[in-house]
Amino acid sequence: MSNLKLEIDNVFKFVSKKQIYSLSDAAKAANLQLENGKGKGNDFLGWVHLPSTTTLATVADINKTANALRTKCEVVVVIGIGGSYLGAKAVIDALSGSFDALSGKRPLVVYAGHNIGEDYLTELSLFLKSKHFGIINISKSGTTTEPAIAFRILKKQLEEQVGKREAKNRIVAITDAARGALRTLADKEEYKTFIIPDNVGGRFSVLTPVGLLPVAVAGIDVAKLVEGAASMEEWTAADVNFENNIAEIYAATRNAIYQSGKKIEILANFNPQLHFVSEWWKQLYGESEGKEDKGIFNAAVDFTTDLHSMGQWIQEGERTIFETVISVAVPKTHLEVPADPEDLDGLNYLAGKRVDFVNKMAEKGTQIAHIDGGVPNIRIELPELNEYYLGQLLYFFERACGISGYMLGVNPFNQPGVEAYKRNMFALLKKPGYKNIVI
Ligand code: PA5
Repeated sequence: MSNLKLEIDNVFKFVSKKQIYSLSDAAKAANLQLENGKGKGNDFLGWVHLPSTTTLATVADINKTANALRTKCEVVVVIGIGGSYLGAKAVIDALSGSFDALSGKRPLVVYAGHNIGEDYLTELSLFLKSKHFGIINISKSGTTTEPAIAFRILKKQLEEQVGKREAKNRIVAITDAARGALRTLADKEEYKTFIIPDNVGGRFSVLTPVGLLPVAVAGIDVAKLVEGAASMEEWTAADVNFENNIAEIYAATRNAIYQSGKKIEILANFNPQLHFVSEWWKQLYGESEGKEDKGIFNAAVDFTTDLHSMGQWIQEGERTIFETVISVAVPKTHLEVPADPEDLDGLNYLAGKRVDFVNKMAEKGTQIAHIDGGVPNIRIELPELNEYYLGQLLYFFERACGISGYMLGVNPFNQPGVEAYKRNMFALLKKPGYKNIVI
């Protein structure tokens, strides 16, 4: 079977292969720390061997719960924020049809608790009024304000629509084994629950029930996703040589580029379904590395769409960026540009060519232009967009992120900076315990 590919040749004009390989020992040492648990944040390494240790029983329980929701619900609301929703949305958007939601495919998966927009919640609540809906409520801490507000509102609505007893059959909670308000509430209400392991942080939780249950509800093959991730776990293990270890190579390459003064990494894709993979990636790397006054800033663009908006900046703006492009080798479908006898739009030179061929030429043209414009280019190629290769991609990024964070010298598994806004917000809201904090 073919595999995900990493190409770094197009950074050598900016940082030499020698410079990158001079970081191979550091990358290897960092990867070993992920294995031996001797690095910073070592109580959050549960994700490292998650794919290879996910049991058939876990997958069966997830599929059984998903099927129960699929049978009862036209709409399933996934409540969560940050690591508690981005992984699920990334996979669901990548592997569902672009128009599934509009074409009436059921169940429809929608999201709440990832913002505090009053209009958003009101509109969602109105939409759900005439629907058979269920809720997957995800919060590791069980105390995050955004999902807590959404759950309080939607739980009440569900109970009013179907009665308290039936609502219990349509609510699943994913949270800590013992701690937090959501655990207390779920136990009291006797909801079906799944546990987020203590040693897996939110942004590394896509391959736990946090990501897998919503993905299974959307009808996606969870076992294949885990299988792909497990293959990447093997391939990026610390005992695999640096030359063959694509997670170590990616980590070393981006650190070499960072050291050369390029502080912004732009993740670009040429497939609109991958938009939320980039959102997930932004959180993974941004929250893991952006601390202690260090870290690459993570940005993302969808091409060719954003070539018509951010393309100018990328080509000619401040030369502090590098680019990592995700490319999918073969599309799921086949569509050709038709011939037109009149050729009024002048497109007959493309007649008979696949739309994907045009996309690939756009990718190649962009790569050449950006390299000419001073932008180092890393390229990741997926043979196809399916569960297996997406599982590989997710684990590849996680593994490389852990390695890269250790190479940078930070704890990649904490996020102390996220608390600053919450403390101020709670003080302003006069939350008990925060009333006397002066801001
Ligand atoms: O990666 C993280 O830890 C965060 O993004 C959390 O996932 C996010 O803040 C949500 O937290 P919780 O699941 O505790 O509600």
